[in-house]
Amino acid sequence: MIIVTDADMRAFGKKLAQDLKQSDWVAINGPLGAGKTVLCAGILAGLGFAGEVASPSYAIVHSYEPPDVSIAVAHVDLYRLDNVDELDELGLADERSDRITLVEWAERFGPAYVVPSHIIDIVPQADGSRILTLKMDENDTRT
Ligand SMILES: Nc1ncnc2c1ncn2[C@@H]1O[C@H](COP(=O)(O)OP(=O)(O)O)[C@@H](O)[C@H]1O
Ligand SMILES: [Mg+2]
Repeated sequence: MIIVTDADMRAFGKKLAQDLKQSDWVAINGPLGAGKTVLCAGILAGLGFAGEVASPSYAIVHSYEPPDVSIAVAHVDLYRLDNVDELDELGLADERSDRITLVEWAERFGPAYVVPSHIIDIVPQADGSRILTLKMDENDTRT
């Protein structure tokens, strides 16, 4: 699908949030400035979060808990992660069944620790639009 503006990206995230369920893992890939954080902000807005959403580049993970959101969310950015062991230290390798996990730069370590329920690729175009591809794991049996 073609996402023309950042407002469209946010709107897409808001809509996607309605399809997400507890224990979903959303892997979001794309270069710096692609709009991964804008998408996550839209998803969080769709889950009821009213505040500003910043990239967790330094913290690596920002956690959102009810009542700020309808379902707990871990917003993760693996850009600055040096090795996969740090994921264990952050507890991200454990699937937590009561939260949604959004992972920017998932491709850096993704295959090493979890099979995502959703994979989103964002490819910026010369005209400023973004081509967004969403793949869903139809065999995902998590509830
Ligand atoms: N079509 C678009 N979709 C998403 N973001 C866009 C779009 N057009 C322009 N932008 C801008 O690109 C930037 C994307 O930043 P960000 O979401 O932080 O990227 P990333 O997290 O992928 O590094 C924002 O400043 C946003 O306003
Ligand atoms: Mg980001």
